[in-house]
Amino acid sequence: MTLTAPSRSPSSSPSRAAIFGANSGIAVAVARRLAASGARIVLIGRDGEAIAASARDLLVRGAAEVVEIAGDFAAIGTTGDIVERAWTAFSGIDLALIAYGSLPDQAALEAAPDAVEAMLSLNLASPAVLALHLASRFETQRSGVIAVITSVAGDRGRKSNYLYGAAKGGLQRFLEGLRHRLYAARVQVLDIRPGFVATRMTEHLPRGGPLWAEPDRVAADILRAVERRRAVVYTPWFWRVILGIVCALPRPLFHRTSF
Ligand SMILES: NC(=O)c1ccc[n+]([C@@H]2O[C@H](COP(=O)([O-])OP(=O)(O)OC[C@H]3O[C@@H](n4cnc5c(N)ncnc54)[C@H](OP(=O)(O)O)[C@@H]3O)[C@@H](O)[C@H]2O)c1
Repeated sequence: MTLTAPSRSPSSSPSRAAIFGANSGIAVAVARRLAASGARIVLIGRDGEAIAASARDLLVRGAAEVVEIAGDFAAIGTTGDIVERAWTAFSGIDLALIAYGSLPDQAALEAAPDAVEAMLSLNLASPAVLALHLASRFETQRSGVIAVITSVAGDRGRKSNYLYGAAKGGLQRFLEGLRHRLYAARVQVLDIRPGFVATRMTEHLPRGGPLWAEPDRVAADILRAVERRRAVVYTPWFWRVILGIVCALPRPLFHRTSF
């Protein structure tokens, strides 16, 4: 379905964005900022009603045009078709944001290891396959940005979240290689590493305190990193310092910690 704004786009040449996992709290905040600058946006997600409501909201906020595509990213075999539809919606994409994922219950997975396969598939295999489908198109276009939300959890394996961390760490390595591949085509590959963000994903956790960020702050960091053509962004910025310390801890000391 395509919704068009009644000739009130504030920009004469709005950029084209595609958001995979468009109902994610972080993605919604990014989409709102893109809409305010008059972008044309493709929203892809599995909850059609939420996507449709978001499309209406983005038009009110200034988006020039919004296209909705239904997609379940757990069905990896369908990602090629989803990318094809997203790419052709506006005859190319300037910014592709891959924002979907799931935060598993680590203890439950340790008790039932067979369930790890689906978690790794959604958080690592699926975004990697999707990004590869995008990569060949961006390579031909010779411009644009592939931005993928990983996590600070991917920086060092810790007992509290090493399964989710394995998926996100694997995705970080994948993006590092994809960035190397796409460098010659001048395509930016952005690895977004948030800390604690107040979205549906974390609503079961005790919130508050200086380490927690609202999605809009993360969205602002993401779009600034896109503008500055960064390779990796920690958001908020202080997570780079925290993870620098965590990663530098000698193993004998690290093993005595409990986080
Ligand atoms: N929140 C944090 O503290 C935090 C920290 C570091 C990294 N991240 C990462 O940031 C990204 C965005 O998460 P968020 O914080 O914005 O959480 P969120 O609001 O819960 O968003 C997660 C999104 O993933 C979508 N999704 C899950 N499985 C899907 C599937 N099979 N097909 C299609 N969509 C699917 C969900 O769709 P539905 O809306 O249909 O459920 C939801 O919109 C994730 O990759 C997450 O791992 C989050």
